[in-house]
Amino acid sequence: MFSEGEIIERREKMLAVKNDLINFSASPLYKYRTENKYFPVIGEGSHFAKIVFIGEAPGKNEAMQGRPFCGAAGKFLDELLNHVDLKREDVYITNIVKDRPPENRDPLPNEISAYGSFLDRQIEIIQPLVIATLGRFSMQYIMEKFRLFLDIEPISKAHGKSYVAKAIYGDIQIIPFYHPAAALYNGGMRDTLKKDFEILKPVDKHL
Ligand code: URA
Repeated sequence: MFSEGEIIERREKMLAVKNDLINFSASPLYKYRTENKYFPVIGEGSHFAKIVFIGEAPGKNEAMQGRPFCGAAGKFLDELLNHVDLKREDVYITNIVKDRPPENRDPLPNEISAYGSFLDRQIEIIQPLVIATLGRFSMQYIMEKFRLFLDIEPISKAHGKSYVAKAIYGDIQIIPFYHPAAALYNGGMRDTLKKDFEILKPVDKHL
């Protein structure tokens, strides 16, 4: 159990990250955000989550609502969480890039590095035991952040595997998954993702 003080401390730290994100006018995506009246998407869920999920970047629905994974890919993510008895409110869900890139294009390297420090701060606040990456962009960022350079493989090999790494607060597991949106275009991917998600079940038991 966490004390009232710890709960307030984490909430305030996350609020500071959110405020910095709102005011991040140096972002390469800031003009696109404001011109379209989009919201930045910081993430949502428990600040004490054992598992943090990291997607790629908000899509149109997410940027309009300011919430991660609330469109079609999010619906399938909910199904995957449900498959392993996890609830959205028990985990934390965010993205590597916090603003919507135009036309749903892949995030550019300068966008990933611009937003990296926001994600780093979120990980430091939550101190998860497991970081579950969704798609190749967050996989690459997280494997590099945790200095697993020699373990980096294509996502076709890495998906569903657990890599142990050292965070400043202790050992963590990094588990790469395919992006749930991939299952929207490729039916076979649904079963692969469901099976891969089963690796998260033992973590759930320790929540
Ligand atoms: N795809 C992502 O990577 N993140 C979202 O929040 C929604 C769709």
